[in-house]
Amino acid sequence: MLTAAVCVALLGCLQAQELQGHVSVILLGATGDLARKYLWQGLFQLYLEEAGKGHSFRFHGTALTNTKQGQEIIAKVLESLSCPRDTAPGRCAELKAQFQQLSEYRRLKTPEDYLALSKDIEAWVQHEGLQEAGRIFYFSVPPFAYADIARSINSSCRPGPGAWLRVVLEKPFGHDHRSAQQLATELGSFFQEEEMYRVDHYLGKQVVAQILPFRDQNRKALDGLWNRHHVERVEIIMKETVDAEGRTSFYEEYGVIGDVLQNHLTEILMLVAMELPLDISSSEAVLGHKLQAFRALRGLQRGSAVVGQYQAYRGQVRRELQKPDSFHSLTPTFAGILVHIDNLRWEGVPFILMSGKALDERVGYVRILFKDQAYCAQSEKRWVPAQSHCLPQQIIFYIGHGELGGPAVLVSRNLFRPSLPSASWKEVEGQPGLRLFGRPLSDYYAYSPVREQDAYSILISHIFHRRKDSFIAMENLLASWVFWTPLLDSLAHEVPRLYPGGAENGHLLDFEFSGSHVSFSQPPLEQLVPGPDSAPMPSDFQVLGAKYRDSPLISAWPEELIARLAGDIEAAAVRAVRRFGEFHLALSGGSSPVALFQQLAMGHYGFPWAHTHLWLVDERCVPLWDPESNFQGLQAHLLQHVRVPYYNIHPMPVHRRQRLCAEEDQGAQAYAEEISTLVTNSSFDLVLLGMGTDGHTASLFPQSPVGLDGEQLVVLTTSPSSPRRRMSLSLPVINRARQVAVLVMGRMKREIALLVSRVGREPRKWPISGVRPDSGQLVWYMDYDAFLG
Ligand code: BG6
Repeated sequence: MLTAAVCVALLGCLQAQELQGHVSVILLGATGDLARKYLWQGLFQLYLEEAGKGHSFRFHGTALTNTKQGQEIIAKVLESLSCPRDTAPGRCAELKAQFQQLSEYRRLKTPEDYLALSKDIEAWVQHEGLQEAGRIFYFSVPPFAYADIARSINSSCRPGPGAWLRVVLEKPFGHDHRSAQQLATELGSFFQEEEMYRVDHYLGKQVVAQILPFRDQNRKALDGLWNRHHVERVEIIMKETVDAEGRTSFYEEYGVIGDVLQNHLTEILMLVAMELPLDISSSEAVLGHKLQAFRALRGLQRGSAVVGQYQAYRGQVRRELQKPDSFHSLTPTFAGILVHIDNLRWEGVPFILMSGKALDERVGYVRILFKDQAYCAQSEKRWVPAQSHCLPQQIIFYIGHGELGGPAVLVSRNLFRPSLPSASWKEVEGQPGLRLFGRPLSDYYAYSPVREQDAYSILISHIFHRRKDSFIAMENLLASWVFWTPLLDSLAHEVPRLYPGGAENGHLLDFEFSGSHVSFSQPPLEQLVPGPDSAPMPSDFQVLGAKYRDSPLISAWPEELIARLAGDIEAAAVRAVRRFGEFHLALSGGSSPVALFQQLAMGHYGFPWAHTHLWLVDERCVPLWDPESNFQGLQAHLLQHVRVPYYNIHPMPVHRRQRLCAEEDQGAQAYAEEISTLVTNSSFDLVLLGMGTDGHTASLFPQSPVGLDGEQLVVLTTSPSSPRRRMSLSLPVINRARQVAVLVMGRMKREIALLVSRVGREPRKWPISGVRPDSGQLVWYMDYDAFLG
């Protein structure tokens, strides 16, 4: 009894101490758009929730605007604040007056201004007999201002010992991995990671914040379902009707990928895809699991995205950024991305991320569509929504807007009845006639928040309560940029598809996917596409049949060329398997064959993969898992999509005894032995080669005598470019092949193609000129860019 009484008293004491804490909130950029729309309201909300519990507050709105003008703006904003719905008007006026009393505007520019602010806070705390709990600095300013402000806070405005500092940062956090890293290092020199709260306001949206708790509370039902065996696909969508007018200077730098996909949609992707921690309230555990999911993301290729730009954008940029009429922006305002996650849970499941401005509707949602794995013997007339497994099964986290008009969590009734916290989520009332994702609302268990709250109000409360799991940790941020940066680089020169905007977009932005590739479903509207009217279309050309260096030449537009080559390889494979029971194919690496690998992976169902042996023409001396490894390219674009028995796959042994291509490890000899053992007469059925701009082929380089003649089947060579060490098939073994195909693509190859067409057999100068199969056939596959320039 006594102990309990002491405890209660002590608890009271502790609480009382905490209650005296004074919190200063400094809103930087207090007159700006974000502050006016959301942040002041969020701070008011914080005051309403916390002041009654004893904390004392002051709110310092700051900006570079002069004092008089700033005060006027702030006064207007404070006047427009709203109280919770059930507050009586008189009480609301009272509360607003209290809040206004505690709020001020001040200009904050120089380090001295920061020092003065700090002194004012200290004087106030002392005067009121309070204890300082901490200071929150909310940066609602453009990122170029971050460093100066951070320096001033750190040097002149940190609270004294015992009080905490929290700085809140708004995206964008860089525009690629390097700039994000730079910003992180810079800020890291002023603040501890635990002091920084990087906002992604989507993490404050009620439905997004509910994804992990939903997965946690419904573990039992979801355990067997949340995986590649049951999930057909996942759609993570944020459509907007507004465009970028008024923000083009920002938008030109970030585009839709930097503005929305790299942050909002990626965070949602992680919440859906990550393994569920045992304790979802542990921010360390959540971060650890997120990072693990980031590591499993398959790298994005140019073909993983479709991009668009609304037609009026270019004009807006010209006007707002004072660009000449000749200025063309390549910034995408729309993107559809196909993401794959290479882990056991998600392998093969397409995750579609899509966002855009000037679309036909405003809506955000995450839709998990389950596979239709049932056959219903009963007539459709008798299907009962709650029971029939033949109706669509889906879980939808409806973030907001759209037909439903607000946030909700929907679960098809034929899946399971979900459990959501009843204090904060209620069943949505029926809305006759409303259909969502093809089904009437009545087909779903549907829940919406009891009290709808704005994301910023929620996040501001989480900052106050130190709930770091609602914010972006630095490692998380960098992992996201690691994922997106290569795609941004590869799209840098891509012309986005133009779209008119709004309902007129029709089906122009619909896209479809196959394997790792996405493409628009419909051809572009010709009149919208910029470019010379007279440019020939691929269909204007026939595949050219001619000779090049006395051997057959196939020339076509890239797509046609690749299709033809893939067809020829398949035909060779079928022939070889019919005659000899197996097909030995040696493949080059690099970028040209990627499209070929993808074509073979996707479109060639008759390919006798089970009887095909895959060999490497050459390899870089890097571990096989290195992205630069040729084997890695083969693995990513072909092997993981086809069923080749693992004992038929023959990577080059460049990595032995934990060393790379050491002569004494005899990797080249080992590969040669493997060839001699498995390939009759060491004569491959087909060798696919490329041609470098310097005339190299395989990894046989000009002016390097290695591998051009002699007995060796496999050699170690040196490339002029990094990684310099290489392993390569020798010319003699290449020339022993039954068929050799040389694939040459792109304008960059034009010059060498012309040169090589005129020279004789001079492998020391141009190793490609030494390719002349002893008794096999050589065929050149060149696209029009390489052949005709
Ligand atoms: C912001 C983007 O992060 O999110 C804007 O910068 C976008 O371009 C906005 O319009 C969308 O947020 P919400 O909360 O309106 O869906």
